[in-house]
Amino acid sequence: MAALSLGRGVSRLLGCLHRASAPWRAVSGRIRGAPDAAQPGSYLALSAQAAREPAAFWGPLARETLVWDTPYHTVWDCDFSSGKIGWFLGGQLNVSVNCLDQHVQKSPESVALIWERDEPGTEVRITYRELLETTCRLANTLKKHGVRRGDRVALYMSVSPLAVAAMLACARIGAVHTVVFAGFSAESLAGRINDAKCKVVITFNQGLRGGRVVELKKIVDEAVKHCPSVQHVLVAHRTENKVPMGDRDIPLEQEMAKEDPECTPESMGSEDTLFLLYTSGSTGMPKGLVHTQAGYLLYAALTHKLVFDYRPGDVFSCVADIGWITGHSYVVYGPLCNGATSILFESTPVYPNAGRYWEMVQRLKINQFYGAPTAVRLLLKYGDAWVKKYDRSSLRTLGSVGEPINQEAWEWLHKVVGDSRCTLVDTWWQTETGGICIAPRPSEEGAEILPGMAMRPFFGIIPILMDEKGNVMEGGDVSGSLCISQAWPGMARTIYGDHQRFVDAYFKAYPGYYFTGDGAYRTREGYYQITGRMDDVINISGHRLGTAEIEDAMANHPAVPETAVIGYPHDIKGEAAFAFIVLKDDRDDAEKVVEELRAAVAAKIAKYAVPDQILVVKRLPKTRSGKVMRRLLRKIVTGQTRDLGDTTTLEDPGVITEILTAYQKHGARRPAK
Ligand code: WT7
Repeated sequence: MAALSLGRGVSRLLGCLHRASAPWRAVSGRIRGAPDAAQPGSYLALSAQAAREPAAFWGPLARETLVWDTPYHTVWDCDFSSGKIGWFLGGQLNVSVNCLDQHVQKSPESVALIWERDEPGTEVRITYRELLETTCRLANTLKKHGVRRGDRVALYMSVSPLAVAAMLACARIGAVHTVVFAGFSAESLAGRINDAKCKVVITFNQGLRGGRVVELKKIVDEAVKHCPSVQHVLVAHRTENKVPMGDRDIPLEQEMAKEDPECTPESMGSEDTLFLLYTSGSTGMPKGLVHTQAGYLLYAALTHKLVFDYRPGDVFSCVADIGWITGHSYVVYGPLCNGATSILFESTPVYPNAGRYWEMVQRLKINQFYGAPTAVRLLLKYGDAWVKKYDRSSLRTLGSVGEPINQEAWEWLHKVVGDSRCTLVDTWWQTETGGICIAPRPSEEGAEILPGMAMRPFFGIIPILMDEKGNVMEGGDVSGSLCISQAWPGMARTIYGDHQRFVDAYFKAYPGYYFTGDGAYRTREGYYQITGRMDDVINISGHRLGTAEIEDAMANHPAVPETAVIGYPHDIKGEAAFAFIVLKDDRDDAEKVVEELRAAVAAKIAKYAVPDQILVVKRLPKTRSGKVMRRLLRKIVTGQTRDLGDTTTLEDPGVITEILTAYQKHGARRPAK
């Protein structure tokens, strides 16, 4: 059995691996076909080491993977009961130096980014030298306009080299970026800018996606009207069109041209904030997860290399938007830290046709392709011909992320796209985890991969399943709440401005454990399969949303006193939102109200958050204590009406028939999908 190739640093580390200790065997010993755990360099041996001796595992890795200004003195200092998480304490480094300068020194002309622009066949290659220069000019522009170490900068930009440079420019000067997905509404953007108190916003005049113009600057204008902290808006150009420029707006390219192409990097502490990224929870405003420098970067780089089998010279493609954590970790930070060529995909899977991804794979000779199940489900409906038309022989690894991948989509990706010859990794992780936590790789070459399963924990991840009473579930063939029992370097450190919320959201349900919010099943062999969220978070096309957020967005309508939103299975989106609404009095303009509600959700959150179904009911099913029984609504929508579960706490059981009747009538009217 060959040792996993972990590079120079870890191969030395392998020498000091010892036999797995007894407690670790209890967790991992079930893995079928496992080689002798003592085999140095085997997946099990390394996992055991990472679990048992985190300092001995991560310490040398951090030292040798990253470029440091000052070495750390303490590998880790973490306590899940208070939510204290610290890695590589005392160390100082700069993330942009790790992602750029170190590669420029060795091979300045190697390609860092291939920008696959919306218009097919017009890709642009950017070398590490060019990206460093652009980053420095942008960093100097930020400094000139008052951005200092620790200040927050919002990015409302489409996927582009300039957006990557903006992230790295913040990292270079110690500013904190918060990228807001360019599909979010002005109101969502304003909410995030205000929560983070951003000093500067960077945007484009317009964006292009699927051949359509997106009015980015206009949306920023709308947002910053309500953002007193914003001093400047830096406006770059993606299209030729002119947009109105106000007093605080600054033309970005013009300013950058005046600046020096060099910028001295700030030396940052390992635990200084690198970025904030907002994500939805089951209650309240989206939370600004805080990721820090060294641990995050190390974890992103290592998972990028080992899960996808990235090798020097490969062209790596993650088609996620940079507005999500997937884009942060596997478009930008992981690949660039590893000196990879990373694709920036600006378009959509069906523009100009359903062959877009595979034509791109052929043209750019892509080796790894990482995308979302929702796109796979959409593309498979267009048929195999769109795939087979193009040469995909460059592909070695296929990856799936963001939501459960159903059997059909997995098989299609594996057989049709990958010609049954590529490694397909279903990767489970979250905004909070910083990088991939469960995936079929790393593992020994050729180790089995089961369809639709994330399977194996990454090094340092110790998954635990909890039963309803909070007891750790042992053994295989069990389902429970997925928790992680030990800190890892990539995890989020806090929620910006609200550490208590961080502790409450992740460490309170099962004291001493990080609770993911997901449920999981563990097979007899010890493999994990994610079964879905256990809270009121839904996943629409791989985009995470709290049902409470959608309810809040509808709450201000004067004619609608009450709403309840649930997620239900959807062919392509994975999940879609279903809203039950109660109208004030007996209004006869229900259709108009429904339209207004749709518009309100689009304006307050984003278009993708608009419920697919809105049903008017006389009242919601409430318990005697006034809680809406969403479980019941879910059962009605998914047709499980024979097994409604315990309904004895309902204030009036008559409500069930009432809603069922309304639902059945609605179903008859509903246009077929
Ligand atoms: C939630 C996290 C991970 C980056 C993109 C989404 C769901 C994610 C999988 C998977 C089943 C998955 C979970 C998780 N999820 N990956 N491979 N199988 N479910 O990040 O927006 O923070 O969402 O996405 O429910 O908790 P996110």
